[in-house]
Amino acid sequence: MEFPGTIRPFCFLVLLSIFTIVSKPVSAATGYCNFPAIFNFGDSNSDTGGLVASLVALPPPYGETYFHRPAGRASDGRLIIDFIAQSFELPYLSAYLDSLGTNFSHGANYAVSASTIRPPPSILPQGSFSPFYLDVQYTQFSNFRPRTQAIRNQGGIFASLMPKAEYFPEALYTFDIGQNDLGAGFFTNMTVQQVNASVPDIINGFTTNVKNIYNLGARSFWIHNTGPIGCLAYVFVSFPSAERDSYGCAKPYNEVAQYFNLKLKEAVVQLRKDLPLAAITYVDIYSVKYSLFSNPKKYGFENPLVVCCGYGGEYNFRSLECGSTIEVNGTQILVGSCERPDLRVVWDGVHYTEAANKVIFDQISTGNFSDPPLSLKMACHRNPN
Ligand SMILES: *[C@@H]1O[C@H](CO)[C@@H](O)[C@H](O)[C@H]1NC(C)=O
Ligand SMILES: *[C@@H]1O[C@H](CO)[C@@H](O)[C@H](O)[C@H]1NC(C)=O
Ligand SMILES: *[C@@H]1O[C@H](CO)[C@@H](O)[C@H](O)[C@H]1NC(C)=O
Ligand SMILES: *[C@@H]1O[C@H](CO)[C@@H](O)[C@H](O)[C@H]1NC(C)=O
Ligand SMILES: *[C@@H]1O[C@H](CO)[C@@H](O)[C@H](O)[C@H]1NC(C)=O
Repeated sequence: MEFPGTIRPFCFLVLLSIFTIVSKPVSAATGYCNFPAIFNFGDSNSDTGGLVASLVALPPPYGETYFHRPAGRASDGRLIIDFIAQSFELPYLSAYLDSLGTNFSHGANYAVSASTIRPPPSILPQGSFSPFYLDVQYTQFSNFRPRTQAIRNQGGIFASLMPKAEYFPEALYTFDIGQNDLGAGFFTNMTVQQVNASVPDIINGFTTNVKNIYNLGARSFWIHNTGPIGCLAYVFVSFPSAERDSYGCAKPYNEVAQYFNLKLKEAVVQLRKDLPLAAITYVDIYSVKYSLFSNPKKYGFENPLVVCCGYGGEYNFRSLECGSTIEVNGTQILVGSCERPDLRVVWDGVHYTEAANKVIFDQISTGNFSDPPLSLKMACHRNPN
């Protein structure tokens, strides 16, 4: 199928003739997609300031490695979404919730730490989850589009901070969400089997939102599956009796993540049928993250289960305490970071270090872990199958 305005120069016909270009700005020489903006939906894996703007501060040493100050990210530095933005020479995404002088000219980030796909069982700060679950993130996006265009049309000082109308169909829409839906089950006394049984309903919630975003004109989708939650200290330390695999990851918890990913992949296959103008890339981030635990030396890491910024026990972790002051034997202790965050996979027991995020980005951007197997720069091309 061809669309008006699609460019198909002779030189890359061999490669591109089997794909349909769904987003127009494509480099004629390379076939690379020139995404002018990114709109991201998710949780702390891709939150660039939403939590901090709305709910909870992230104190030092968060941000210490790259930004040299807390930068609204649950890491010592950049997240995968930062490396994605950087790879398109786009600015780092501003959080939609950040109301102060914020520049949305090249996209917006709706992700907020502790967000779920389904309505959360409890809300921060008394409870544990973000009120900005995926349906709410969608509502914010649906409001963002007409509001920003009204502001642009009005002119004046705010106009240049808003994205151009044509960026909405041309943008890359990225998703990394679901980990907290599993966590919400595990940490509210559901059995592993009960959480597992809830996966199809979680995926339905995801699918509905992708369709709604498509119906607002989004065309290029980049969807991360969920990582090996059982390799993170907040899970295996909290459930010490869980069976461990040969790398020390809590096996049943990873199996639920794998089932989530199986159902997500099936849902993406169906979405391609239901959304004929969409290019949807499913990205197996699970395999990449797992390889950091199974083969850390290959990527320059050591002791991958041990937390960099934490306190106590075999894994330097009791609960999420990075940057807080705790009392141990009557003495106040500031929970700081390890000497070499660049040698660690996990930053605070829940989130990855910048070094790990960089390795993960380098792997997923190749297309080696994508379905269809197209690199990040080709993610506007629809595979007709
Ligand atoms: C907003 O960000 C874009 C991209 O980084 C930049 O070119 C532009 O100057 C910024 N606008 C303002 C008013 O700072
Ligand atoms: C889980 O069950 C334990 C023991 O029955 C109870 O003390 C705890 O409050 C429960 N937690 C939640 C989140 O329901
Ligand atoms: C999750 O459910 C699926 C489908 O019923 C099943 O095949 C799988 O073994 C279950 N996994 C766990 C860990 O319960
Ligand atoms: C706290 O006290 C326990 C028991 O006396 C001891 O094993 C532990 O090393 C102490 N921890 C610190 C940080 O001093
Ligand atoms: C994809 O993976 C293969 C096999 O592991 C590797 O040889 C190749 O270099 C990778 N491709 C890219 C672009 O990294």
